[in-house]
Amino acid sequence: MKTLRTALIGLGRIGWKFHLPNIVRHPGFELIAVVDPSEERLKEADTEYRVKGYQDYRQLLDSEKLDVVVIASPTPFHADQAIAAFDSGCDVFCEKPLTASLQDTDRIIASMRSNHRKLMVYQPHRGMASIVALRDVLKEDLIGRIYLIKRTHTGYQLRNDWQAFRKYGGGMLNNYGAHFIDQLLSLSGRNVKKASCWLRSEASLGDAEDVVKALLECDDGLLLDLEINMATAVQMPPWFILGKTGAIVQDEQNKSWKIRYFRDSELGEIATQEGLAAEQRSYGCGVTIPWREVLRSYEHYAPVDHYQKLYEHIALNRDPFVPIEQTRELMRVIEECRRVAE
Ligand SMILES: NC(=O)c1ccc[n+]([C@@H]2O[C@H](COP(=O)([O-])OP(=O)(O)OC[C@H]3O[C@@H](n4cnc5c(N)ncnc54)[C@H](O)[C@@H]3O)[C@@H](O)[C@H]2O)c1
Repeated sequence: MKTLRTALIGLGRIGWKFHLPNIVRHPGFELIAVVDPSEERLKEADTEYRVKGYQDYRQLLDSEKLDVVVIASPTPFHADQAIAAFDSGCDVFCEKPLTASLQDTDRIIASMRSNHRKLMVYQPHRGMASIVALRDVLKEDLIGRIYLIKRTHTGYQLRNDWQAFRKYGGGMLNNYGAHFIDQLLSLSGRNVKKASCWLRSEASLGDAEDVVKALLECDDGLLLDLEINMATAVQMPPWFILGKTGAIVQDEQNKSWKIRYFRDSELGEIATQEGLAAEQRSYGCGVTIPWREVLRSYEHYAPVDHYQKLYEHIALNRDPFVPIEQTRELMRVIEECRRVAE
């Protein structure tokens, strides 16, 4: 098995808690070095992982022969660090959002292409067990043509870190939006042709938005409705998937998708009425819809192993779990949402 010589940039929440243990866990990766401006964090990494540390990524790239650089630094640094890694002949696994602007995304993609390198973005929410199961539910095609997918994420956060400030590329559109817009786009397999969006800062201690409302119209008319609200004391249901003959909602407590639908073939003929006086002053069409309800559990589904997918893409040349074209569309949609909101 080919081993990929790997360095991690950024020893913060996601770097320390997710990337570092996963690089060490996966036999296809060898942890060579870490980067963080904080000496204390480099010492901590040395104590726990016996790994060499650098305070600057340029020193790392000048000193080590690497195959992969994992970038988990704050978002504004991703572009320069990724481009420097490509220029040094490395492939890159980068945290979401790839960048704080589409222009920087395009700079990264141009550098990746001119250096003939690979890039994948870590998008954990498209690989969650519930979402892997939802793909199977959608394949059953029970609810007819889907016309609207509503994704809602709610909570209450008095946010005071860099993610609360616009100057650092913070705000919920970039931060959680990069997860949920990615879920919506990857599940629907569509591109967005029109976006409406509203951004508000309500509970956050910074100036970046903690409330996002976006309505995205896809090429074929499908509506993707996103609400991220980190200023609400009550929770709202996370998913509504509405089709012509049914709907799917998530039952989080029972780790299931709940599907309510009917079969067109069981409905019989319904004639439309002529004229402007509703027959028998009735509001209905006289037919009782034969609703069915089924549950599809995702208890036994496993989440995607992102480091395995990264290994397969980089070492075995398989297709990426998150193709770069999809990352670009995600970044384009985020930028378009911000443009129309402002
Ligand atoms: N995929 C996910 O689920 C997920 C979750 C959290 C964060 N993220 C993303 O990961 C990135 C990091 O976020 P975080 O929450 O871990 O941040 P954090 O604030 O917890 O940690 C940032 C780390 O980077 C270090 N750092 C600061 N400047 C640096 C530089 N110039 N070069 C290298 N390191 C530097 C800091 O010292 C700190 O250790 C962001 O892009 C964020 O959006 C993704």
